[in-house]
Amino acid sequence: MNEQRKKITAPAIRAMKGKSRIGMLTAYDYPSAKVADAAGADILLVGDSLAMVVLGYADTLSVTVDDMLHHTRAVARGTKSALIVADMPYLSYHLSTEESVRNAGRFMQAGAHAVKVEGAKPHRLRTIEAILEAEVPVMGHIGLTPQSVNALGGFKLQGKSADDARRLIDEAVALERVGCFSLVLECVPAELAAIITEQVSIPTIGIGAGPSCDGQVLVFHDVLGIYDGHTPKFVRQYAHIAQDMQTALEAFLSDVRSGQFPDETKESFHMATNEELERLYASRAEGGVVVEMPKAQ
Ligand code: KIV
Repeated sequence: MNEQRKKITAPAIRAMKGKSRIGMLTAYDYPSAKVADAAGADILLVGDSLAMVVLGYADTLSVTVDDMLHHTRAVARGTKSALIVADMPYLSYHLSTEESVRNAGRFMQAGAHAVKVEGAKPHRLRTIEAILEAEVPVMGHIGLTPQSVNALGGFKLQGKSADDARRLIDEAVALERVGCFSLVLECVPAELAAIITEQVSIPTIGIGAGPSCDGQVLVFHDVLGIYDGHTPKFVRQYAHIAQDMQTALEAFLSDVRSGQFPDETKESFHMATNEELERLYASRAEGGVVVEMPKAQ
């Protein structure tokens, strides 16, 4: 994908519903943002999955606003066209409306174009409204919301029963009404995702939610086979980069140990001229240290 793409905005994403499918990837730093943007991602999510795939935590709860801001800035530096959505981490929108709005604003100042917030209970809807009033576009997220992993009892499929599914449909409609520009559906039955997608006028972006959503998102490290933790059923791995990285690093270390790296010509620098080299050796001899000058190459 080489042609110049236009900058993608939150209203543009909303307008894609029913017209073209939305491709979203997570990105956590300058190189991942650059490559995902160049590949044509419509949205780059600075996901709080950062906690697990980059920082090595067991869940997403430990990552802080400062961690997320640091990575959002790096993603912003690597992105030309994609819409950058910053995930608001655990406790950054739970304590008070004022603090939630301030945190959302900090993400915008760090280079995000929108934020993502998990959940749709009445108090969360009020928080989202306040963030929207501060002119920050909000992406909703329902189904398996990883920040609620302890309350949910694990990373489990949500909305399997008719009652749970009904509740999730109501939540999706409430998020649409409150003004979210799009909605992530994580780990819900494909049938339920299809109903929600039909029912709401904003795009649904699925992860483990079947093929009927308006878009799909996967974690960068899962798509490329970089993360060595558990890979969920809904992931399709398009490469095995961790293995390629290890093979390349082993080759480098083996070349270092056998003396084959660096090459004397291709990978080394040399004195300006042979005369300069001769002067260097002469001055060392004057200083009492006699070193034989190597033969000219
Ligand atoms: O943090 C994350 O990666 C997410 C997803 C929707 C993939 O929230």
